Parts: sequence; C-alpha cells; structure tokens
Amino acid sequence: MDSAPKADLPRAAWPDGTTVPALGLGTWKMGEVSARAARETAALSLGIDLGMTLVDTAEMYGDGGAEEVVARAIAARRDRVFVVSKVYPHNAGRKSAVTACERSLRRLRTDRLDLYLLHWRGRIPLGETVDAFERLRAAGKILRWGVSNFDTADMRELCALPDGGHCATNQVLYHLGERGIEWELLPWMRGRRMPAMAYSPLGQGALLRMPRLAAIARQARTTPAQLALRWLLRCPDVIAIPESADPDHVRANRAAAGIPLDRSTIAELDAAFPPPSGRTPLAML
Ligand SMILES: NC(=O)c1ccc[n+]([C@@H]2O[C@H](COP(=O)([O-])OP(=O)(O)OC[C@H]3O[C@@H](n4cnc5c(N)ncnc54)[C@H](OP(=O)(O)O)[C@@H]3O)[C@@H](O)[C@H]2O)c1
Repeated sequence: MDSAPKADLPRAAWPDGTTVPALGLGTWKMGEVSARAARETAALSLGIDLGMTLVDTAEMYGDGGAEEVVARAIAARRDRVFVVSKVYPHNAGRKSAVTACERSLRRLRTDRLDLYLLHWRGRIPLGETVDAFERLRAAGKILRWGVSNFDTADMRELCALPDGGHCATNQVLYHLGERGIEWELLPWMRGRRMPAMAYSPLGQGALLRMPRLAAIARQARTTPAQLALRWLLRCPDVIAIPESADPDHVRANRAAAGIPLDRSTIAELDAAFPPPSGRTPLAML
C-alpha cells in the first residue's frame, strides 16, 4: 500500500483562532530508555517533516525524559511546532505550577509552551491552577492553557470560575472503541467552540487487533490504524495525537488523512462500534 501523504491535513482552530493540524504526535512512552531516544527523536522529526507539527508531551512521561526527546526533535525549528505539555495535578498549585512549567521549558529547551494542560483533576482547588496558568500566560511562558480528563461536570465547574472560560481544550480518551464523550461532553465543548484532543486514538494498539475493525478496514482497502485515525479526522474540531516510534507507522498515520471515508464505511463502523446511547462517566487511562 502506498502510504505517502497525499492530502493536506485538516486543521482545527483553538478558541483564539490559531489553527493546528488535526493530526499530531504523542510521546507517552518516549524518553524512558536512553537507548531508544535516537529512534524516538527520529520518529518525531519525521512526523514534523510530514506536517504533524503538534507534539503532545507531559512532565510525567519518562519523568521529563519525553520532553527532552521532544527538545531534540524541535531544535532549530521551534517556531514551526506547536508544543503541548502537561502539569501533574500535585504540581498544579499557585506557585508549584509556575516552577513545574519552568522545569518543562528547560527540558524542552524553549521559552514558551503553545499549550499547557492540567493532566487530570487532583486535590488542589481548580481556582489556584487557573490563577497560575493565567500568570504564566501573562508572562508569555505559555500561550494558552487547558485541561485533560475532565468530565462535563468538571468542565462546567471550571468554566464558571473567574478566567476559567479561557480554557482552550480538554484532552480526553477518544477512539472508535471509546465513544462515550459523544453523548454530552463533546457537544458541550462544541457549544463553547472548544476543540477536543483525542488521546490514545489507536486504543494503545489494542483497538487495531479487533477483528471487526480489521474486516471493515480490509473492505475499505486500508489498515485498521489508518481507518481509526481517518474516522477521528472526520470531525474538524478533534485533534488526534497517535504515538509511534516506528517510521513506517508515522508515514502510514500521516497518510490516513488521504484515505476516502464514505457513508457506508461510517455506517459499518457505527454498527461495529456503536455511539453511546446514554450518559456514561468519562473513560480515562
Ligand atoms: N492526557 C492523558 O491523560 C493521556 C493519556 C494517554 C495518552 N495521552 C497522549 O496521547 C498519545 C497517544 O496515546 P497512546 O500513546 O496512549 O496510544 P495510541 O497512540 O493510541 O497507540 C500507540 C501504540 O500504537 C502503535 N501504533 C502507532 N501507529 C501505528 C500504526 N500505524 N500501525 C500499527 N501500530 C501503530 C504504537 O507502536 P509503534 O511505536 O510500534 O508504532 C504504540 O504501541 C500519548 O502518546 C500521549 O501523548 C494522553
């Protein structure tokens, strides 16, 4: 199968109007083993070269090691890349979030993050985190901020806080096998023109081994991974961030944007992976 990129990547817009490719690059398992760092850096560099210029990382990944891998991949072209990092909930206090962000900036060898996320909700009051994020924004150390793993009630609470409405996104688990957010959270975010970031868009690989997906992909003359990504790319306000350290997979993921997705394939996917029929608590890893 020819996996060279053929179509432009669709773009998603943040509430401030800035746009990014709707297909980015994840880094969760990167930076954990130094012997793998060169391969990981090369995979990220390739993805950036192919136009997947949004890179998602976190202080948690590899205890900062993933941010160091990202630093190598974005060196000399920082301005072309949209860098997302995340703060641990226990570091999300009024002062601790500022120092955690400064540590991330040092590891990433940059002077600002394009987006800074609260990784998940912890015990620190949300208002404190919002204050810290707003101070980081005023100082130019982050350009926008958001959250991750927030269910609709958490989002409502956040957005009711002073400056809480400045939240740019909510990064959540979303793929063919986990469609719960379509019931309430996604429509709620759409109502606020807030794009969603879909993490684990390949179900961490497990989705790709499902016989039903393999059968539909075969019929559509594509691969399970490309079909799973193309399905997410049908929504202009969902940013998928697959992770891969394999150059062939990176090329294939980029090429997913160019595969056709017709109504009958969507209908088959809906039958095999039904949308939610009621509210369920937000699934998370
Ligand atoms: N906010 C949060 O709480 C949260 C939680 C989880 C993840 N995330 C973010 O989302 C990113 C993506 O999620 P994820 O890493 O959990 O899982 P994922 O992207 O759904 O799956 C990654 C796995 O799929 C494989 N893969 C990638 N492309 C493939 C292809 N074309 N064909 C076959 N296999 C392929 C990768 O292996 P190879 O390396 O061999 O390609 C890897 O094992 C993370 O890296 C992280 O940045 C955020």
